[in-house]
Amino acid sequence: MTDINKTIDIIFGRWKSQILYAGAKTGIFDYLSTDPKDVSQIAKDLELDEAMTYRILRALASLGYLKEEKNERKFSISPEGEFLKKDHPQTLQGILLLEEGPEHYQIWKHLPRMIKEGNQDAFLSEYGTKIFEYAANNSEYSKIFNEAMSSYSAMHTAMVIDALDGYDFNNISHICEIGGGQGHLSSHLHSKYDHTRGTILELEQVVNNHHTAWPTKMGLQDRCKYLKGDMFDYVPPADLYMMKMILHDWSDEECVKILSNIYKSAPEKSKVFIIEHLIPDASTSHFSKLFDIHMMCATTGRERTLEEYILILKQAGWNYVKTHYPSSKMIGVIEAIKGIN
Ligand SMILES: C[S@@+](CC[C@H](N)C(=O)[O-])C[C@H]1O[C@@H](n2cnc3c(N)ncnc32)[C@H](O)[C@@H]1O
Repeated sequence: MTDINKTIDIIFGRWKSQILYAGAKTGIFDYLSTDPKDVSQIAKDLELDEAMTYRILRALASLGYLKEEKNERKFSISPEGEFLKKDHPQTLQGILLLEEGPEHYQIWKHLPRMIKEGNQDAFLSEYGTKIFEYAANNSEYSKIFNEAMSSYSAMHTAMVIDALDGYDFNNISHICEIGGGQGHLSSHLHSKYDHTRGTILELEQVVNNHHTAWPTKMGLQDRCKYLKGDMFDYVPPADLYMMKMILHDWSDEECVKILSNIYKSAPEKSKVFIIEHLIPDASTSHFSKLFDIHMMCATTGRERTLEEYILILKQAGWNYVKTHYPSSKMIGVIEAIKGIN
């Protein structure tokens, strides 16, 4: 792609993601299969306007997410479209519904102003409340948020398991995942290591839905239990603390508070795994540099370099051990210990 085409593609990027959003929101991806269906049937079954339905189906086919039969007004799902079905094992539907949904769509408009003023957290500016308080009071948003986190986790869990391949879990029996969401990562680790048990510390709005979360889905509810709480107040003692996509939600000062609080409860020699995107050097183009801007809009947080995480860990009393990377290098698992390794 020449530079001008790349730029045109980026300028119209939001059109494409909004077209995908409409496909998911109207139920088109979940409804269609590889067996072509007539537009009138699709519109009737999904209770949509037929003329408009044809236009959105045609646009989705043009983007490669559906297949359009020549001159027949019939559509079927493409291999790329399968990933946008709710029930696909690596579904991206949750991420699409969250990131292109109305709440997150609105916050981006604050970006130029925030850059000028040096004042982040557009969520607070737009809704008068921080993101997790907003989720606590909006069950529909909370549901979409949690499903999106499970969608992200479907990608991340595989990367964490890849990064920790060969790691010695023998001395680890109790794993506490802080802000573990629907428990995708914890459940898959407990399923891999049958001597471990776990606690997932989460906010009320997440714990209330624990019966539909991954520990129950995977039959691990006796070994992996939810604990309602606030990581700024109390975390239970454990051999290993995991935090995946948690510290990037918070400022450096807030991260030091969270890590210091864990340190207070942590037994000597316990470990912490911080699982995050890590910003690489200036010459490397990386998704983390874009995710950082999303964090600027949605929270008080940021994406960080490894050195920045090591500094925060040190300020909270933890000793850095090493970083484990999956082969994709998309994320890193930063390991630290209370005391000496
Ligand atoms: C970005 S999500 C990450 C979820 C999960 N770790 C993952 O990677 O899929 C942040 C999580 O932190 C939880 N959380 C936010 N504030 C918290 C607090 N004060 N105490 C415990 N959990 C909190 C949220 O409910 C949410 O599930």
